[in-house]
Amino acid sequence: MIEQQEATWTAVDDYLSGLVLREDAALQAALDDAAAAGLPNIQVTPLQGKLLHLLARAIGARHILEVGTLGGYSTIWLARALPRDGTLVTLEVEKRHADVARANLERAGLGDVVEIRLGRALDTLPELEKEERPPFDLVFLDADKGNTPEYFRRAVSLCHEGSVIVLDNAVRHGAVLDADSSDGDVVGTRAVLQLMGEEPRVDATVIQTVGAKGYDGFALAVVTGTR
Ligand code: SAH
Ligand code: DHB
Ligand code: MG
Repeated sequence: MIEQQEATWTAVDDYLSGLVLREDAALQAALDDAAAAGLPNIQVTPLQGKLLHLLARAIGARHILEVGTLGGYSTIWLARALPRDGTLVTLEVEKRHADVARANLERAGLGDVVEIRLGRALDTLPELEKEERPPFDLVFLDADKGNTPEYFRRAVSLCHEGSVIVLDNAVRHGAVLDADSSDGDVVGTRAVLQLMGEEPRVDATVIQTVGAKGYDGFALAVVTGTR
């Protein structure tokens, strides 16, 4: 049953990708090298990557923050949306992932645009807050799900009115329904979704998705105030 559905979702993703995506050497090489290095195959799909890219372009994002770099696949999509003077900071705890990402970003011609910060995001986010830097226009939260509520709170503080915060893996095959879950990822995701609904500094929605990565979802929040 579910296997058949997933086969259909993947086939439809392939069909849609054929319509709206182009062959892209740098993105393909990033996927190939991440796989060759043994990184987990959990990056956004090509269609999702382009959604992030178009969202960044649509809001004219100049400064982007990503939490969870992996091999830099989503990073490339996002950074390509930036204007010439734009910047992207991406946070990653695994040196092995960051090293693969750095090579992938350099090959994509984005080495000067993207800064990879190595460390636990719980440590690197407060460091960012202390720095004199322009607020971020777009934040993509895609790291360890258990800490996402804290990432979200800090992301709001790093934004300005009108900034957009996108959260990946908001539904996790429906696992978010389980109010009694002892899985830290589920507990964290439920907590951040509740926070997004209650937090007076944002307006949020959550969208369920299916596709080549199965059944999941994105949450999207627009910042309405930062204090
Ligand atoms: N955004 C990527 C996928 C990220 S996968 C893409 O779509 O292409 C999640 C990443 O978060 C992994 O690389 C993992 O190492 C990283 N991560 C996990 N815990 C973290 C933490 N505490 N701080 C920063 N990064 C973390
Ligand atoms: C996992 C993490 C992700 O960010 C994702 O998009 C899919 C799966 C995981 O940790 O299993
Ligand atoms: Mg994800």
